[in-house]
Amino acid sequence: MKLHHVIESQQFSLPLLEELFETARRMEQVVARGGTKDYSGRIMASLFYEPSTRTRFSFESAMIRLGGRCISTENAREFSSVSKGETLEDSIRVINGYVDVIVMRHNEVGAAKRAAAVSDIPVINAGDGIGQHPTQALLDLYTIRKQLGNIDGLKIAMVGDLAQGRTVRSLTYLLSKFERVKIYFVAPEMLKMKEDILAHLNEHNVWYTEETDLTRVVPEVDVVYQTRIQKERFGDRLQDYEKSRGIYIIDRNILSLMKNKAIVMHPLPRVDEITIEVDSDPRAAYFDQARNGVFIRMALLAMVLG
Ligand code: CP
Repeated sequence: MKLHHVIESQQFSLPLLEELFETARRMEQVVARGGTKDYSGRIMASLFYEPSTRTRFSFESAMIRLGGRCISTENAREFSSVSKGETLEDSIRVINGYVDVIVMRHNEVGAAKRAAAVSDIPVINAGDGIGQHPTQALLDLYTIRKQLGNIDGLKIAMVGDLAQGRTVRSLTYLLSKFERVKIYFVAPEMLKMKEDILAHLNEHNVWYTEETDLTRVVPEVDVVYQTRIQKERFGDRLQDYEKSRGIYIIDRNILSLMKNKAIVMHPLPRVDEITIEVDSDPRAAYFDQARNGVFIRMALLAMVLG
């Protein structure tokens, strides 16, 4: 199935998700065999205007394991010609002449779409402000499938900074494509899931509820998807940040309320919203989730590079 730019979760149909997950499964075997040279001669640019550990390194690892090479700027706001006043569009047009695929993280919502509009080569959205982070949601869904076997009928709690979290927005769009999914949004009033996402769920008849009490939700669900309260998104509203942080912490007490087969996920990085004692519990899935990023990103790169 043809895939060119990867901008938002909505563009992934169920058959395309199946093809992606099947390719990712094959990539797990490729990695176990030490990688491939299939994409030698191909170059990926990672253009990051916001900080990253997982997304940038896993994309670069993915490209190298496919036999390709990477050029990279990890602080494009300071170290690219944006600092001299160059527009995003001009940067993308120029980079088109140097590489075969661009992986871009930007601080502005819609930046990936703007980049794709002027790019002949594939642009992959590695996070655009508080907009979307589709490749994270794809690896999240892949992890849920690997851990629990199925998506249809699952009950999933999304917890924390839902108003400013791009991963939960992208994941909700993906989940809305499956049957009988139930989504529990757990957030303080000021960080509730945004209306556009709730409207999308209403339009697609997806069951959801909004809660403030995590302990009421945890015994019900199959997945607890915890997120960080993102200090950097509050700007000068630091009082609001202080009021929100620490409200929801996954610890031994929360684990004791969870089903035996349920899993704890987190896109990472975490600060203090999952205590370290949780790491050794078999239900802690977040490091496996991060590892799956390489396989999903290898699959995405293979699909867009053809
Ligand atoms: N999950 C995620 O996007 O992590 P990074 O910010 O480290 O890339």
